[in-house]
Amino acid sequence: MIIHSAIALSVALFASTSAAQDPAQFVNPLIGAKNGGHVFSGATLPWGSVKAGADSASSDDMGGYVSDGSPIYGLSSMHDDGTGGGPSLGNFPLLPLTSTECAGDDLTKCAVDRTQRALDHGDPTASPGYFGIPLNNGVNAEVTVTQHTALYRFTYQAGTTQQHLLLEPTGDLGQSFQGIGHVTISANTATNATRITGSGTFIPSFGLNNYQIYFCADTSAPFVQGTYYNNLQYTTLNQTTFDTSITASPAVVLMSFSPGTTNTLAVRMGISWTSTAKACAYAEAEVPDLSAFDTLQTAARAKWNQVLGAIEIDATGVSNDSQVLFWSSLYRTYISPTNITGDNPLWNSTEPYYDSFYCLWDTFRVIHPLYAITAPTAQAEMIRALIDVYRNTGWLPDCRMSLDKGFTQGGSNADCVLADSFVKGITAGIDWQTGFEAMLKDAHEEGDWQVQGRGGIESRATYGYVPVGDYADDPPSGASHDRTASRLLEYAYNDFAIALVAQGLNSTLNATHFFNTSKDWFNLWNFNASNTGYSGFIQPRNADGSWYLGPADTGGVFRPDHCSPAYPGDCFLGGGGEFYEASSWEYSWFVPHDMASLVQAMGGADVFSTRLDTFFSARFHDMGDEPGFLPTYLYNYVGQPAKTVDRVDTVLAQYYNTSLNGLPGNDDSGAMGAYAVWSQLGFFPVGGQDTYLLSRPYFPNITIRNDATGAVATIIASGLSDQNKYIQSATLDGQPYTKNWLSHQFFSQGGTLTLVMGSSSGSTWGTSEEDLPMSLSTKGFGCDNCTSPTGDAWAYDQ
Ligand SMILES: *[C@@H]1O[C@H](CO)[C@@H](O)[C@H](O)[C@H]1NC(C)=O
Ligand SMILES: *[C@@H]1O[C@H](CO)[C@@H](O)[C@H](O)[C@H]1NC(C)=O
Ligand SMILES: *[C@@H]1O[C@H](CO)[C@@H](O)[C@H](O)[C@H]1NC(C)=O
Ligand SMILES: *[C@@H]1O[C@H](CO)[C@@H](O)[C@H](O)[C@H]1NC(C)=O
Ligand SMILES: *[C@@H]1O[C@H](CO)[C@@H](O)[C@H](O)[C@H]1NC(C)=O
Ligand SMILES: *[C@@H]1O[C@H](CO)[C@@H](O)[C@H](O)[C@H]1NC(C)=O
Ligand SMILES: *[C@@H]1O[C@H](CO)[C@@H](O)[C@H](O)[C@H]1NC(C)=O
Ligand SMILES: *[C@@H]1O[C@H](CO)[C@@H](O)[C@H](O)[C@H]1NC(C)=O
Ligand SMILES: *[C@@H]1O[C@H](CO)[C@@H](O)[C@H](O)[C@H]1NC(C)=O
Ligand SMILES: *[C@@H]1O[C@H](CO)[C@@H](O)[C@H](O)[C@H]1NC(C)=O
Ligand SMILES: *[C@@H]1O[C@H](CO)[C@@H](O)[C@H](O)[C@H]1NC(C)=O
Ligand SMILES: *[C@@H]1O[C@H](CO)[C@@H](O)[C@H](O)[C@H]1NC(C)=O
Repeated sequence: MIIHSAIALSVALFASTSAAQDPAQFVNPLIGAKNGGHVFSGATLPWGSVKAGADSASSDDMGGYVSDGSPIYGLSSMHDDGTGGGPSLGNFPLLPLTSTECAGDDLTKCAVDRTQRALDHGDPTASPGYFGIPLNNGVNAEVTVTQHTALYRFTYQAGTTQQHLLLEPTGDLGQSFQGIGHVTISANTATNATRITGSGTFIPSFGLNNYQIYFCADTSAPFVQGTYYNNLQYTTLNQTTFDTSITASPAVVLMSFSPGTTNTLAVRMGISWTSTAKACAYAEAEVPDLSAFDTLQTAARAKWNQVLGAIEIDATGVSNDSQVLFWSSLYRTYISPTNITGDNPLWNSTEPYYDSFYCLWDTFRVIHPLYAITAPTAQAEMIRALIDVYRNTGWLPDCRMSLDKGFTQGGSNADCVLADSFVKGITAGIDWQTGFEAMLKDAHEEGDWQVQGRGGIESRATYGYVPVGDYADDPPSGASHDRTASRLLEYAYNDFAIALVAQGLNSTLNATHFFNTSKDWFNLWNFNASNTGYSGFIQPRNADGSWYLGPADTGGVFRPDHCSPAYPGDCFLGGGGEFYEASSWEYSWFVPHDMASLVQAMGGADVFSTRLDTFFSARFHDMGDEPGFLPTYLYNYVGQPAKTVDRVDTVLAQYYNTSLNGLPGNDDSGAMGAYAVWSQLGFFPVGGQDTYLLSRPYFPNITIRNDATGAVATIIASGLSDQNKYIQSATLDGQPYTKNWLSHQFFSQGGTLTLVMGSSSGSTWGTSEEDLPMSLSTKGFGCDNCTSPTGDAWAYDQ
């Protein structure tokens, strides 16, 4: 039922349901909580600093809770969404305990070790701003949030005489405590409160160095007994303030509370990246009343509805499943990055600060382009934050989390994030001149390209590509000098992004230079490489110009399918491969700025189209990783938009559904889900440029409100049904519209795109040469001087 009905239009059971007032009703945050989706399924606000949820004793715990039957060893207040690196954050777990786990009410008998204390549990309940889970010790654990504060509500069984609670100031998901911590515990019977403050130093999950983070926890009652456990010793707590530094893990605070008139114990947990004082100030300001759980939960949901509500869909004839897939995926696109403006300890600045850009390699393709149409105000703040990272660290990041520099996966893809917003006219408060300067630095200067900028700049300039084993390393970097083929493709596209910004800033010579260098992807194009009947592949190349045959595990021959689902291999960071997280088959499609040349290089439109078919049918395509997104839309570049419709249909049906394993890969800060969002809307962004490739909507009427300009873009799919899924003709504001792509003006200025849908895949709509998306070699992107890499002489074309 799930796969097909997830996208079917004909199941009209809930025809009258309108999402307009409460799209949150269709959000299931648990989709992707198993099968490697690594989603964060707990409670947070849009771009919220605090992300609170349960933590599973599972090796798949990157997002905290995993729906794999593993027991729960705590509920913690900080997480990231969908990461593929190590488990991220998970700081300061709390766990409600009972006399069973504490061998009576003796706190020195409680299980403290995380494997011993972990509790079995029932199914969690999650919705935007709320997470609840029944623990098998009889305690129902729930949490809701504000921007910097989590409010936990633990409901113990009636008749419990002492409610026990564990708090681990040295705890995080990765057990990465660095031996520097602090805790202060004060119980105050006069105010009926216990306050625990503290801090710890931990290491980031996919980056350098370490980070320090602070908490301020208040309980709704004073403890009746308490003990502090560290270094195998118990220290009894009393009403006197207890204050100690922590040098060894684990440190655990155990407390018991008298149930009073209710069976609930509330814990308010403020978090700050700056100080415990700030954590307390956030908590007091955001959650003045510890008993106001329901009110906060309602407020959190309202915030979600406001952000989700930038898009409205008419759900007439649309199944509940289809709506759940759409809104749940859209919801996850707003979890990261986190807005910690005002809480950045690294530098003083009046600019906004966002953390958890995790990673731009994933999000430049689909997340930031989505914000450009649904949340340009937030996107402008993120651009300002990225530029401020450049001002203060000297570089734009490619990945950034927990206040630290994250690892670079391929190119300098912040260039694409900036260019995407620049060409879409997002300006609010952005110093584009400084942004441009930062992009130029990426292109010209080599630093520690393990975490910023690019590697192989000098050899690329010398050879026209990055040669295999490029050891030129000045200054020295901790990066592994592999991924030379995929990095060159990304550098070429990054250069194109720089050229677009240069062009817009009237920096003509820079524009000419970077449009020109964006052509050097072609230097790794080997016409002679062939596979499955197709010739011409991106192949790594040695410094002497010879083609590199591949790693030992391909048996000394070049295998374009290596690292595809059909022929898996190690192509992850540090794996030593020349392509990163995908095959040559897949990377050989990545020339988003000059697809017209790529079509020629592959042998023309017909070959290009059947080659795409083979790419999908032979399992060279990997939908579980971001480079797999764009190829599904590439039929548009050869005037075959109906084949894009079929391909996207197949991909959505095969890889996305509303069950908890319904994601094909790591969510990567919402990127994996964003593919479903775009595809259900009926178009897909080419991140870094002003192009949206049209497929077809899954909803009869969609409106998208631009919060910066107030403009409303309406897309009407007239006659849409399961069968009538192909565009027959279109009008934009009443004028015939035949292009198979859109430009951003539609979203920034508003308008109505009316698509006449029909069952024929043979319509001529969008098939002519003038309907194709822009390419540099066909005078697209306003570059009249640009040519193909061969100067437009495609002598080898048959
Ligand atoms: C409270 O505990 C502290 C530290 O363990 C101890 O120094 C102090 O004497 C205790 N006070 C009372 C009233 O028991
Ligand atoms: C503290 O809590 C107890 C039990 O819930 C209650 O009886 C008492 O009135 C409270 N005192 C204050 C100062 O709030
Ligand atoms: C639609 O799906 C959501 C999430 O799974 C569920 O909570 C809701 O009850 C469903 N609505 C209907 C009308 O079936
Ligand atoms: C920020 O400014 C405050 C007040 O001048 C100062 O105490 C603090 O050290 C500064 N922080 C940084 C990271 O420069
Ligand atoms: C980010 O946080 C700052 C400081 O709290 C706030 O002023 C700003 O509106 C927030 N941005 C968004 C998009 O919510
Ligand atoms: C670039 O030049 C055009 C045409 O002269 C002008 O309208 C525009 O304002 C200039 N842009 C910048 C950023 O200087
Ligand atoms: C490129 O732009 C930078 C920054 O505006 C400028 O300093 C430089 O001269 C430009 N280079 C060329 C070749 O125009
Ligand atoms: C195109 O060529 C003309 C003439 O050579 C030159 O003036 C102009 O700056 C070039 N434009 C670009 C974008 O390269
Ligand atoms: C374009 O790049 C090639 C190779 O790097 C170089 O030889 C050529 O001079 C460049 N052309 C221009 C106009 O910059
Ligand atoms: C392809 O192979 C032919 C025949 O061996 C050779 O002449 C030609 O130079 C090769 N082309 C490339 C681009 O390697
Ligand atoms: C849901 O999607 C996942 C991920 O693509 C897939 O593994 C699973 O088989 C699908 N489940 C159902 C019930 O269709
Ligand atoms: C499409 O939706 C918009 C906004 O809800 C509404 O104003 C418009 O009337 C709808 N159009 C059609 C044809 O349903």
